Amino acid sequence: MNGVNIGPIQFYDHHPAPADFYSDVIKGLQQDQKMIPPKYFYDQKGSELFDLICDTQEYYPTRTELAILKDNANEIADNIGPECLLVEPGSGSSYKVRSLLDALKPQAYVPMDISKTYLIEAASKLSDDYPWLEVHASCIDFTDKLHLPPILSEEAKKVAFFPGSSIGNFEPADAVHFMSDIANMVGEEGGLLIGVDLKKDKTILDSAYNDNQDITAQFNMNLLTRINNELNAEFDLASFEHNAFYNEKLGRIEMHLVSNMEQEVSVDDVLIKFDKGESIHTESSYKYSIAEFQKLAGKAGFESSEVWTDKKDLFSLHYFTMT
Ligand code: AVJ
Repeated sequence: MNGVNIGPIQFYDHHPAPADFYSDVIKGLQQDQKMIPPKYFYDQKGSELFDLICDTQEYYPTRTELAILKDNANEIADNIGPECLLVEPGSGSSYKVRSLLDALKPQAYVPMDISKTYLIEAASKLSDDYPWLEVHASCIDFTDKLHLPPILSEEAKKVAFFPGSSIGNFEPADAVHFMSDIANMVGEEGGLLIGVDLKKDKTILDSAYNDNQDITAQFNMNLLTRINNELNAEFDLASFEHNAFYNEKLGRIEMHLVSNMEQEVSVDDVLIKFDKGESIHTESSYKYSIAEFQKLAGKAGFESSEVWTDKKDLFSLHYFTMT
């Protein structure tokens, strides 16, 4: 496919199919354990709340990962080597990559995101701030197919950047699938730089998802507001409560919305029944030891090259190459 020039950036529109919010919600609420995919947290309000979560005292991942990137930028660049093609699936604001660019000096940066206007805006801003950098923005749903812009030189080393422990939202088997897609995209000579939240004391994890200002609770509850607004539903917000806890056995944070009474809720023309104490599972966030994650990435064909952590071993940044 041909790209188009938008100001200083090249833009490729792969027209990702819009997510089907209605059928995903109805399907999820009709299961034994009711669930809603976490991608639906991120409407305008949800994205704003997530940014506020990142600034809370308790939510350590964002600031810890940024510090790891900044403190080790030169070493990371040495591992990857100069002139790579840096590809970021789900690039959002392209904020974290800024900590790497000056040290890494990639040949080109390829942000990929499902949200077209947000992608163009973020890519253009980045291009303004890094005039020497070639930026090729690709509008895709990265869970579908990872299209690379065609004009990029075949010889350059391709490296995927996947920060934020977003990989934790996948079930482990799905994480392997996703990393296999990445392996496919970067090829034999390619690499993967990925941020992964570490297993740690349950009290630290529990409080990271139960901040004092209740911003995480609002983030979780906003899903019901969104469903009410967009899907003609009648959730009574006062009868649901935020519940987040570390499930040690499964190695994951679980977020739920718990009904505090027996009730029936209409979602458009469908009636959903809740027992008292019954929950909607809204998110899983898996945590991995370094060895566990290396094993998982190994199943996708990746071999550990280097790992960086912070002093308190809260968060890890892995660099993998292909076996
Ligand atoms: C964006 C998926 C990495 O799991 O920690 C933060 C989302 N949910 N607080 C995470 C989230 C509640 C976050 N990820």
